[in-house]
Amino acid sequence: MDSQATRLIELFNLKKRNSATNSAKIVSIISGKGGTGKSFFSLNFAFQLAKRKKKILLIDFDYNFANLHLFLNKTVTSPLSDFFKDKKTLNEMIEEYTENLDIIFGDSGFDNNVQINEEKIERTFFNLEKLADDYDFIILDSAAGGSELTLRQISFSDYNIIITLPEPTSIMDAYVMLKYCAKNELKPINTVIVNKTDSKEEGKTAFNNLNSAVTHFLSIEVKLLGSISNSDIVTKSIKSQELLSKTAPESQVITEISEIAERFIKFGQLANNNQRLISNLS
Ligand SMILES: Nc1ncnc2c1ncn2[C@@H]1O[C@H](COP(=O)(O)OP(=O)(O)OP(=O)(O)O)[C@@H](O)[C@H]1O
Ligand SMILES: [Mg+2]
Repeated sequence: MDSQATRLIELFNLKKRNSATNSAKIVSIISGKGGTGKSFFSLNFAFQLAKRKKKILLIDFDYNFANLHLFLNKTVTSPLSDFFKDKKTLNEMIEEYTENLDIIFGDSGFDNNVQINEEKIERTFFNLEKLADDYDFIILDSAAGGSELTLRQISFSDYNIIITLPEPTSIMDAYVMLKYCAKNELKPINTVIVNKTDSKEEGKTAFNNLNSAVTHFLSIEVKLLGSISNSDIVTKSIKSQELLSKTAPESQVITEISEIAERFIKFGQLANNNQRLISNLS
């Protein structure tokens, strides 16, 4: 057996073992096309989970266009690219942002000295498994689209959160991403958020349209985690490089993200219990 095949089997076993234990679940925040709000959501979602005493590691995994540091007006001293260049371990680049929330930032303008390839993605996941006991969730803010590397990443995730807009074109992009997710033999839990909606009804209708295509054509289940209103305060918070969860914790958008965080925790507990039941039975 060649070394790549051996490595894949090792990863597969590692993931199977961890899915039955209490170690951190890996959550990929993904979308079909770009600009659906993944980075804005990732940060505020991570913050809301941390506020609920979940230990979170958030990673800027959009390695070529990393920008979480810009959302928070942070100067990055240890970007993820240092790990890809074998200069540092993941552990060495973790920054504590607030209680229960650690972040590994990327750097924009990442030079092209290091080509990210599948081997580097796999190595990242091997190393993440070593950190898994310290966290409840490891959240990956991802690059848009279904490149080979993102699909590789998705194959190691326990949860995918697909962020879509309510427009039919964006729903179609989300469907294409779910089609890729459906090919994953490790069966991650696929959830959807409809962002920039004018009303809750618009979010539900958009999800129902997506869900009927998924139910009809793909052999997977997908759950709606919630919708987030379209609001100018989001853009304002990004322009002022402040975290909306801190500056406007009572705003509608943050209330919606809080509710999504609570739903996600409850949903995770349910999935965990089922997983335990299955592993006890087998
Ligand atoms: N709920 C919202 N209401 C209004 N504007 C929003 C909302 N969510 C996100 N935006 C806007 O959408 C833009 C894109 O957001 P963000 O950078 O988070 O998307 P992304 O999916 O991470 O993009 P990329 O694919 O390029 O990484 C931002 O300019 C932000 O102001
Ligand atoms: Mg982004």
